[in-house]
Amino acid sequence: MINGQKILITRKYPAAGMDLLKKEPFQLTFWEKERPMTPDELAAQAKDHHALVCTLTDRIDQPFLDRCSHLEIISQFAVGYDNIDIPEATRKGVPVGYTPDAMSEATADIAFGLMIAVARKFFFLHKTILTGEWGYFNPTGRLGFELKDKTLGILGLGRIGVKMAERCKSAYGMTIIYHNRNRNLSAEKPLDARWVSFDQLLEQSDILSVHCSLTPETRHIFDARAFKKMKSSAVFINTARGPIHHESDLIQALNQKQIWGAGLDVTDPEPMARDNPLLSMENVCVLPHVGSGTMEARDQMSVLAARNIIEFYKTGRVPHIVNPEVLA
Ligand code: DGY
Repeated sequence: MINGQKILITRKYPAAGMDLLKKEPFQLTFWEKERPMTPDELAAQAKDHHALVCTLTDRIDQPFLDRCSHLEIISQFAVGYDNIDIPEATRKGVPVGYTPDAMSEATADIAFGLMIAVARKFFFLHKTILTGEWGYFNPTGRLGFELKDKTLGILGLGRIGVKMAERCKSAYGMTIIYHNRNRNLSAEKPLDARWVSFDQLLEQSDILSVHCSLTPETRHIFDARAFKKMKSSAVFINTARGPIHHESDLIQALNQKQIWGAGLDVTDPEPMARDNPLLSMENVCVLPHVGSGTMEARDQMSVLAARNIIEFYKTGRVPHIVNPEVLA
């Protein structure tokens, strides 16, 4: 039952969802400052609340959970939740909601866009205009490559991976291969997709696009060994989480031409430093983690995050929950 519970909301989320919370008899606290809370501020504020709406840069780790084990629900505004110590939240009996599928189209667009941008050196060529290097028409300079009939490899053929594969198949007739821990049989047929081992994925992909979660198993799975196995003509795309690739190994692989290029919407750390060598490479395009950055996706994320809290207090259910065992 909703009865004046105090909800801490860690930043300005879209009104679509926040208005749903405002319609209910909650007491809402919005963090109004133009910067995120420090870990200490977050714990100090959360101590005085029943529930929390947070997102990927709020660290919900063991020290936080030790101080705030009284929280009745944590509602994450994101599909990824690697900022939250889920085993610890589960041990402490705190349900964690999240917002799956709201940003699948938006993120697949960014992966698809980065793929084209890298293949045709969009960002680098844009910079040559700014630096006055647009001189004469040079038939052999700064050439990219075409994507038709290439092989797309997906690590993590889930909701977003499927959307990326659909785009690549219909736009360029690409062959789809993928690696998941468990095969995605329902996606294989419509995409004509083939499961391969991780090493085969590395060896056979022309474009390798990452769509898996960040877990202890996937942290730095793209390291020097992995890049060495990839084609020298391959493009690496990561729109999932920065620590899935090992950044200095990626820089080395690009410098040594072990792979052709990279498109990143996620980096490690975030934000990326302005003098990061990746930013001046000809075959690299980097975006500041904007995969879900459409009005549609962010509205839907805020609605799902709000509904997770409202339903929890009305029915005891959390529609989109990471650790259902807590409520079982
Ligand atoms: C997510 O939802 O996990 C995205 O990375 C946020 O943009």
